[in-house]
Amino acid sequence: MKRRFLWWYQRLRIIKYRLLSDCKHVYGKPVVRQPVQLVGEGEIRFNGVVNLGVYPSPFFLNGYIYIEARSPTAVVEIGDGVWMNNNCFLVSDGAGISIGKGTLMGVNCEIMDSDGHDTNPQRRMTGTPRSGKVVIGDNVLIGSNVKILKGVRIGKDSIIANGTVVSKSIPEDMLAFGNPLKCGRRFSPQDWKQTAGATDPGK
Ligand SMILES: CC(C)(COP(=O)(O)OP(=O)(O)OC[C@H]1O[C@@H](n2cnc3c(N)ncnc32)[C@H](O)[C@@H]1OP(=O)(O)O)[C@@H](O)C(=O)NCCC(=O)NCCS
Repeated sequence: MKRRFLWWYQRLRIIKYRLLSDCKHVYGKPVVRQPVQLVGEGEIRFNGVVNLGVYPSPFFLNGYIYIEARSPTAVVEIGDGVWMNNNCFLVSDGAGISIGKGTLMGVNCEIMDSDGHDTNPQRRMTGTPRSGKVVIGDNVLIGSNVKILKGVRIGKDSIIANGTVVSKSIPEDMLAFGNPLKCGRRFSPQDWKQTAGATDPGK
């Protein structure tokens, strides 16, 4: 009974946000578990099976995923097998955002490809914000509350720790964490030989 109520409640919320979406260039059919608002004059592409929203997980019922391709040239491309957890938001002003296959994003992650405003105080509202394409490789694990800023590239298989603000590019197979951002160890195939789900004995 509860499950059915939950399903209907969420379905109605999903429909509401679909009606509030105005992006006319959406390609692909993601699996939508949380309300998603798709906005802007640019293009939003979902390749293969993209999962938007996770249950059970925080904010499932009181938030939404927001994807905006703001200008006509903006392209947001999301690869096959991506899981985007609840309340993630992506805003492309024009340079573009690309997320590789199989990448997992935690709750409340933010990706933006521009500064949003000109940094010159005389031109905050009139100037052109600096921007740069954001490219996230395949199989990246992005922890919850991570923020990824303009021009950043993240190499495949890397891990971005919870709460990190990523303002510089990260090579592949890297653990990156902290503010200011630090690169820790580089992973090797040896790292992945341990039993799945094993507890770190040091903790
Ligand atoms: C990224 C993560 C998996 C790494 O775990 P780990 O392998 O146990 O990390 P380590 O213990 O080797 O940490 C390496 C260093 O990074 C630091 N670190 C790890 N996570 C950090 C974080 N979120 N912020 C700041 N520093 C962090 C550690 O303190 C350590 O620093 P030191 O070298 O100075 O001692 C883990 O930190 C993490 O963020 N887990 C949560 C992921 C998440 O949000 N998932 C959402 C699922 S929906």
